[in-house]
Amino acid sequence: MASKALTAPEILARKRGPKLVMVTCYDATFAKLLESVGIDLVLVGDSLGMVIQGQQSTLPVSLDDVIYHTRCVARGLTASHLVADMPFLSYQVNDDEALRNAGRLVVEGGAHAVKLEGGERSAPAIRRIVDAGIPVMGHLGLTPQSVHQFGGFKVQGRSDSAAERLMADARCLVEAGVYSMVLESIPAELALRITQAVPVPTIGIGASSNCDGQVLVLYDLLGLDDGFAPTFLKKYDRLSVRVRDALSAYSREVREGTFPDDAHSF
Ligand code: KIV
Repeated sequence: MASKALTAPEILARKRGPKLVMVTCYDATFAKLLESVGIDLVLVGDSLGMVIQGQQSTLPVSLDDVIYHTRCVARGLTASHLVADMPFLSYQVNDDEALRNAGRLVVEGGAHAVKLEGGERSAPAIRRIVDAGIPVMGHLGLTPQSVHQFGGFKVQGRSDSAAERLMADARCLVEAGVYSMVLESIPAELALRITQAVPVPTIGIGASSNCDGQVLVLYDLLGLDDGFAPTFLKKYDRLSVRVRDALSAYSREVREGTFPDDAHSF
């Protein structure tokens, strides 16, 4: 049966609007919820290393981890476009390995496209994957797999030379064949310059409204981590509070003997 999901060419055409909405996701239950409100793109991000696995960075995430979560998310989707992140060292070693690993995300995970980090240095791998028929989303700016090189999770492209490098990287991604690109943690003015310079949609996170779309990490926008509050993040709920309240009420009722009551017994 042909897929009814939003396609890469349809996403490319959204350069002319309306804005693209992307959210990360790691399981089928949330995938169904995201799709039910019409989220355009669902990203199985390697942010799963931090929000699911409790790691300090995305670096320890394996390709098998991403495939597993992509398969879970795919079962919850029919209409949203599913993008899977290529984790650290799954595309940097050589282009053949990059293609083989991208193919596993599509064949075993059910992804419609893959995302990988970096500009000029990642262009040959991107070209190889695109030539095999797999759509690739680029990712520039604060690319978390380079956190040690950056010396922390810091805004990128602040100096004139750094901004020019990112402009050149964006052009390299377009030449390599990406159908969209994430811009992470860069100044608003640079986000505008890149968005105006490239023919593919830019999807921002910490990159202002000067992009063609926006992405946030699901657990961050739901407010599941009280201790995480970077400037770019808007929390649309305080789910940590509501989850704790629900769990406390359940614990109290079990201990008091008021749950299960007759209404919840056979
Ligand atoms: O891994 C991830 O969740 C991401 C987004 C923040 C863009 O790459």
